[in-house]
This record gives sequence, structure tokens and C-alpha cells, in this order.
Amino acid sequence: MIQSAKSNGKPINVPATHPEEAKMGEYIFYRRSGPQDFSCSICHGQDGKRIRLQDLGNLTTQEGAGTAMKTWPSCRVSQGAVWTMPRRLIDGMRQARWPEPNYQADSIIALETCLQKTATGTVMETPGIKR
Ligand code: HEC
Repeated sequence: MIQSAKSNGKPINVPATHPEEAKMGEYIFYRRSGPQDFSCSICHGQDGKRIRLQDLGNLTTQEGAGTAMKTWPSCRVSQGAVWTMPRRLIDGMRQARWPEPNYQADSIIALETCLQKTATGTVMETPGIKR
């Protein structure tokens, strides 16, 4: 079995019951900044939004965060490569027109914790295939 599939069938379980655990990630998710004054939540905070033909997942719901968290690592067809979930979050920062942090920077771990808290209970299905 490939390493990335070892969690398949297991529920995401990051309850983050201590209020401080998800706080930094929530702050980053909702904070508007950068040249376009974007936040993650501008694109990922409501149901039924899209950019051109791409549906934007609502990462504030269990279903939306689950779809995002349970399917990485994924093959990104547009990139011709397998990406990990932290790599995808770094690209979210690029899409927000923010400076891109290093792999496993504190800000990325914070976003992971916050999104996995929301995704808790959804079941891992990797590797995924994405645009
Ligand atoms: C300008 C709009 C925009 C902003 C701002 C933005 N994103 Fe995205 N995001 C997208 C688009 C477009 C996609 C790709 C959707 C697709 O491929 O169908 C995407 C996809 C994602 C995915 C993958 C979802 C999945 O189901 O696999 C994650 C995770 C994500 N973004 C996180 C973030 C985070 C975290 C931030 C803030 C740092 C952010 N995004 C900011 C537009 C944005």
C-alpha cells in the first residue's frame, strides 16, 4: 500500500477542544490582507460560489472542509504532480496574493489545525485527483 493511502477509511480526528488550538488558523482564514485585501474566507466562506467554472469549496462547513482535507495528497492534473495538503494550503496563500510561506511554516500548521477541526468526522479518501 502506498504511504499516502494508509489513512484511508479513517476519520479525521482533530477536535482542537482547547480554544487556543484553532485560534491562529481561524485568524489567518478570516484576516483580510495583501494587495487585493483578500482573505481565505472571501473565496471559501460561503456556499455556491465559483470563479469562472471552478466551484469554490466552503471551508467553514464540515462538508466543504472535509472535501478539502480528506482527499490530499492528490494528483493535481493542472500541475502534473502529486501535491500534499500543506502544499495545497501554501497555494491558497498564493491565490490570496499573499507571500508564500515555507513548507510546514507555523501559519500552514495553524491553517491545517483549523481546517481539520472543521473537517473532523469526515473519512480519508486519498490519493485524490484534482484539477
Ligand atoms: C481569489 C480566490 C481564492 C482565495 C483568496 C483563496 N482560494 Fe483557495 N481556492 C481557490 C480556487 C479557485 C481553488 C480551486 C478550486 C478547484 O480546483 O476547483 C481553491 C482551492 C483550495 C483548496 C483545495 C480544495 C479542495 O477541495 O481540494 C484549499 C484547501 C484552499 N483553496 C485553501 C485556501 C486557503 C487556506 C486560502 C487562504 C490562505 C485560500 N484558499 C484562498 C480560490 C481562492
